[in-house]
Amino acid sequence: MQSPTISYLTKVQFGAGALSDLAEVMANVGITRPLVVTDQPLVELGFVAKLGLADPIVFADIQSNPTESSVLKGLESYREHGCNGFIALGGGSPIDAAKAMAILATHDIQLEDAAYIRGGLDRITSEMPPLIAIPTTAGTGTEVGRGSLVTMASGQKLAIISPHIIPNWSIVDPELTLNLPPTLTAATGMDALSHCIETAISRVFNPVAEGIALDGLKRGWDNLKIAFENPFDIAARSEMMMCAMQGALSFQKGLGLVHSISHPLGALQQRALHHGTLNSVLMPHVLRFNEPDCRLVLGKIGEMLGITGGVDGISQALTTYSDSMDLPLSLSAMGVEDEDLVGIEPLAVADHCSLTNPRDVTEEAVAEVLKSAF
Ligand SMILES: [Fe+2]
Repeated sequence: MQSPTISYLTKVQFGAGALSDLAEVMANVGITRPLVVTDQPLVELGFVAKLGLADPIVFADIQSNPTESSVLKGLESYREHGCNGFIALGGGSPIDAAKAMAILATHDIQLEDAAYIRGGLDRITSEMPPLIAIPTTAGTGTEVGRGSLVTMASGQKLAIISPHIIPNWSIVDPELTLNLPPTLTAATGMDALSHCIETAISRVFNPVAEGIALDGLKRGWDNLKIAFENPFDIAARSEMMMCAMQGALSFQKGLGLVHSISHPLGALQQRALHHGTLNSVLMPHVLRFNEPDCRLVLGKIGEMLGITGGVDGISQALTTYSDSMDLPLSLSAMGVEDEDLVGIEPLAVADHCSLTNPRDVTEEAVAEVLKSAF
């Protein structure tokens, strides 16, 4: 390997140029005939060509917020071409979609039965085809995460969670993010920051994961704005890749109410709301709501980032930070209409992330956050 190997939950080749290790990684996980799962814009931008595969089999019919129907189509392509593993290339959507395809490749179940809230954790076994993840954004961290979010045929955006869907090996190469447009850099970066914050304050006791989350938060806070303003700053891009990865390495501590609300809002097909932008809008409001049950960690965050004024100071700083990158500051500014919010409360309460939020999540609490974020 040319790039350094990091092994924690899974193996990661990390650093500028790490993509050149792909052939060796494929040999190590035993993939000889991969299905490359990606999206059309990345194909057009030449990302598949960068993989250096001879005659790659490519499935690129993946939309932002992947759907069950594209997962099923991808699976069909995997079987039709006799593939023996997946290379997921892209932001969160292609990687999450490939994880779902991998489950269905070896498990005779409906995709919705794999969802966490449908008892999927017990149905997913270690019997999985190999999967290599190559992120092209610094946001979801799903390249090292045990989750996959799919909008099911029923219309619900559900999380599939299992240690067996963590990619067998990831190649995290910040050079792949250099051409990310500033708006996407900001939105995906705020998703990464929200993972670090939500896992750090979650109610699950896991100081190891908390330490990783706080370190990731500091890297992200210090570098996202730099990457936004100077897209070709490889050092800042690299720190953002690390921040995204660390946020997801902390997922075992669980997320919280920001994600509980952004999941059902992200499933509104008519609006196509960006997950990271939603999180950046919701975060200040959720932190104010959560404050009574996570004061200690919020104190650490304030101290680490040099922000005074307790939760109000942190919330205000987050708003100012998002504003400085031209992100919208309210749900209405994102194009959300009143009627879109009907029925969101029970979905947010039922979301798996509510279980690990520091403060108990009720429909009233969700309504309160939605009102102030609107
Ligand atoms: Fe997220």
